[in-house]
Amino acid sequence: MAEDFASPAERAAFIAGLPKAELHLHIEGSLEPELMFELAQRNQVAIPFASVAEVRAAYAFSNLQDFLDIYYQGMGVLHTEQDFHDLTAAYCARAHADAVRHIEIFFDPQGHTTRGVAFGTVIAGITRALDDARERYGMTSKLILCFLRHLSEADAEATLDEALPYLDRIDGVGLDSSEVGHPPSKFARVFARAKDLGLRIVAHAGEEGPPAYVHEALDLLQVDRIDHGNRSLEDAALVKRLADEGITLTVCPLSNLKLCVVDNIADHPLKTMLDAGLRATVNSDDPSYFGGYVNANYVAVADALDLSKADLVTLARNSFTGSFLSDAAKAAHLAAIDAYA
Ligand code: ADE
Ligand code: ZN
Repeated sequence: MAEDFASPAERAAFIAGLPKAELHLHIEGSLEPELMFELAQRNQVAIPFASVAEVRAAYAFSNLQDFLDIYYQGMGVLHTEQDFHDLTAAYCARAHADAVRHIEIFFDPQGHTTRGVAFGTVIAGITRALDDARERYGMTSKLILCFLRHLSEADAEATLDEALPYLDRIDGVGLDSSEVGHPPSKFARVFARAKDLGLRIVAHAGEEGPPAYVHEALDLLQVDRIDHGNRSLEDAALVKRLADEGITLTVCPLSNLKLCVVDNIADHPLKTMLDAGLRATVNSDDPSYFGGYVNANYVAVADALDLSKADLVTLARNSFTGSFLSDAAKAAHLAAIDAYA
């Protein structure tokens, strides 16, 4: 047991109150089975499950694609502005309970517009809940539009066109979905246009894909952060570059376990990343599918790797340092962490 804590329970209690930001969260991945059923009924959408227990039993994945197939099916219950509001409001309430003070959340518009849901409907519901969360909890937020990388760059370009009227509510663009076979280079032009529009840039890279995809995300997309980045550790020169450039990695331990990126949580590379000087953070990715919100991710990895109080404070500090908040806001959050610790 790390000497700062008398027991795992004491460490969990420290994590519970530790002020933190969440930087890697797909809002559609926070759809709990209970809400899925409620929305299926509300919208008269058929779902291939008879009970909440049956849904949870279906959440056994052997890789990313296994999960994505059920994730895209699940989001099919989302139709109205109220649905997107309720989904986002539920996540914000849950994050607030985990002492999350700031969120930077992804949404997958192509998962909705391809089903006939208007881009504006998605944005209106999500942003109304984010505005409520700011009012209710003092929780600040950024919204990141992710392009689905299994679709074409032309589709991503059309999605960016659809986003143009809403850029006052969109802070960045990202890249998600099936990684292998869909390298960042496929999207170089659309990301260049997004950057010219003043948007922040992130991309999933090195989750299942090789270190070369992380290099491409840095060189061709000019990312501000890397989502996941686990496989960067296979390339010593890349590790040095990420450390030297202070690139934040949004790491998702329970996701990595559920999608078999690691075989065992004790094999998780988070501590190795910290020891290598990488700016790693802890996030929940798709909490309803992977079995835990952000604090559960901290606890799982802290217990498995026996993280110290200093490690946990570093992770929480990294979550704000790596955010897209202003320098003044970051400083205020870092001071709150120091006061807590
Ligand atoms: N979409 C939702 N979660 C994802 C993940 N972990 N990797 C890639 N695409 C995703
Ligand atoms: Zn993700």
